[in-house]
Amino acid sequence: MNTRKDAPWDGAGKRIHMQEVGTRDGLQAEQAFVPTEEKIALVNALSEAGMAKIEVTAFVSPSAIPALRDAEAVLRQIERAPGVVYSALVPNLRGAERAIDALADEMNLVMSASETHNLANLRMTRGQSFAALSEVNALARTAKLSVNVSLSCAFGCPMEGDVPVATVLDWCARFVDDMGAGGVTLCDTTGMAFPGQVAALTTAFRARWPHTELTLHFHNTRGMGLANVLAGIGAGADRFDASLGGIGGCPYAPGATGNVCSEEIVHALELMGYDTGVDLARLIDASKRLPALVGHDTPSQIVKAGQRLDLHPLPADFVAIRERAMARAAH
Ligand code: COA
Ligand code: ZN
Repeated sequence: MNTRKDAPWDGAGKRIHMQEVGTRDGLQAEQAFVPTEEKIALVNALSEAGMAKIEVTAFVSPSAIPALRDAEAVLRQIERAPGVVYSALVPNLRGAERAIDALADEMNLVMSASETHNLANLRMTRGQSFAALSEVNALARTAKLSVNVSLSCAFGCPMEGDVPVATVLDWCARFVDDMGAGGVTLCDTTGMAFPGQVAALTTAFRARWPHTELTLHFHNTRGMGLANVLAGIGAGADRFDASLGGIGGCPYAPGATGNVCSEEIVHALELMGYDTGVDLARLIDASKRLPALVGHDTPSQIVKAGQRLDLHPLPADFVAIRERAMARAAH
């Protein structure tokens, strides 16, 4: 009997692919402009930590996302570790040309399952986005880049509410069956997903497209991030986006806050016996650099609390306490 489906907390050595989005989803939401050389150093540290894929940056309009206006420079100057996929977010043809020019391995095309959020974020209807992304896809094929599609608001829209499962799967079908995308990311843009919903959508996707690379992308806006990751694993998902320090959020989605935190997810999954391929100590070291770069504390609980067995010193008067207790016991 396969008990894994019923017991996602029993990893049994199963490989989970961790995909870092902190330098894209994370930094896009920050007021501070992180200097180009610091972004490059962060990506290099994430490569060394063993992330399977890194969404390095976004080739979007610099007036829409000023924090990522140095996308070319970052992608061109990072050190590329063998086996790591370096991806970049692309909303239109202009972005695709820039991504090809800067030698991205993969284009992450983006549109929203919600018409309202698509208009707010990308200034196009979903139909217009799909037409634009079809052209981007054709260009990517010519340039031999892989294509992943990130579908925002797949678990709900902060302005429309629930997006019907049928609508989400219809857009997936257009991308996978009609366009031939190699991967789809179901994005919970504003932390509306909950475990039962995640299990249902993951199961439905997997049943229809067993061979398509599926990524789940959660934000921890309502504290359900890790629960959603486990629900996804229980339903057959093995790839997750996460951001260093738990920073992030879409500036065009009201109420958006940080992604699930990379070091928290890796810490939890490794304790459960999964193989993330990530060197947690290196990941934590990289995360500790963030507050100085973004100008504030990050949500990371692991940076604050340490790993589970990072022990604390004894109280200063511990010897006296013990002696008193033993003296009492002797009476
Ligand atoms: N890269 C660089 N510049 C771009 C660009 C790209 N991919 N796409 C458009 N531009 C520039 C245009 O050249 C134009 O510049 P100008 O004002 O100097 O002439 C300007 O941006 C507006 O272009 P237009 O085609 O009219 O786009 P728009 O204003 O309708 O905006 C998007 C559409 C998609 C380009 C823009 O909304 C965008 O980049 N959004 C990304 C939002 C995002 O990343 N959200 C978070 C991630 S989900
Ligand atoms: Zn996101």
